[in-house]
Amino acid sequence: MKTVLIGSQGQLGTEIVKIFPGVIPVDVPEVDVTVPESVERIVESCRPDVILNTSAYHNVPDCEKNVELAFRVNAVAVRNLAEICKARGLTLVHVSTDYVFDGRKNAPYTEADVPNPLNAYGVSKLAGEFFARKPEKSYVVRLSSVFGVAGCRGKGGKNFVKTMLAMAKTRDKVQVTSNIVSSPTYAVDAAVKIKEILEKGFPPGLYHLANGGSCSWYEFALEIFRLIGAKTVVEEKFETEELAGVLRPMNSALASAKIAPVRSWREALKANLKEEGYAIQEAVA
Ligand SMILES: NC(=O)c1ccc[n+]([C@@H]2O[C@H](COP(=O)([O-])OP(=O)(O)OC[C@H]3O[C@@H](n4cnc5c(N)ncnc54)[C@H](OP(=O)(O)O)[C@@H]3O)[C@@H](O)[C@H]2O)c1
Repeated sequence: MKTVLIGSQGQLGTEIVKIFPGVIPVDVPEVDVTVPESVERIVESCRPDVILNTSAYHNVPDCEKNVELAFRVNAVAVRNLAEICKARGLTLVHVSTDYVFDGRKNAPYTEADVPNPLNAYGVSKLAGEFFARKPEKSYVVRLSSVFGVAGCRGKGGKNFVKTMLAMAKTRDKVQVTSNIVSSPTYAVDAAVKIKEILEKGFPPGLYHLANGGSCSWYEFALEIFRLIGAKTVVEEKFETEELAGVLRPMNSALASAKIAPVRSWREALKANLKEEGYAIQEAVA
């Protein structure tokens, strides 16, 4: 299966490149999703079976300030990909987000829950999801709080784990939010599952993909420090739905009614910390 992977240098894209046979990795500036001709050119020359789009404009406060760009990358460009796929009979896999939800549900969100995004990023990604439905074989895969060894390019190469690892080296004490909950998603596991969806021929449609379980940022930080044996003290802090002028979901945990459970976020975190070069302190309570 020949797959053109857009966003190949990103946190998720990097993991997909490692495991996808026949992958054709592309990224800006060679292929810019907002420039239809650049996508047409690569499709015409490579003749893929699948377009897998992991590109996004996803710095949440920046999307709020630059709504037009958010819509160009996260929605209009996806419409263009969908039209190319439909016209050529290609499969489209488009990666989306937990931020399509408002976070006011008291349980993890499944594929059957109705989105109600609170900010420009979420609205633009939801619009992208609708556009992505156009080809006959179209998959929309929603992820939550992605962490991986490559780090998130859209967030300056950081992710939550990397930020905490840096703090463990420099701080005696950190304050971490304990009333915002999500389902951390290890980029390696997301890549493996996306490959499985395609190779096993799952029915086209919407999929939630996250590691098993959910946690607050505070619980996530505690587990990171515990596993690396850091002495940094973690204190709880509380946020409101509006953070620095931008509304965010307080609960964006994802569960899937369609994908068999992925290993727990704690197991995935251990694997990620090993990849980051840390020895795991299993025995520390
Ligand atoms: N990171 C998270 O916590 C998270 C949570 C939920 C959902 N998601 C979704 O998961 C997907 C992958 O996230 P990620 O963490 O892998 O992000 P990432 O590290 O920022 O990777 C995104 C990649 O897309 C490229 N890109 C950006 N604009 C582009 C354009 N106009 N044309 C072509 N490529 C472009 C970026 O290149 P440059 O860096 O050179 O611009 C980068 O290589 C995104 O769809 C995101 O919405 C992420």
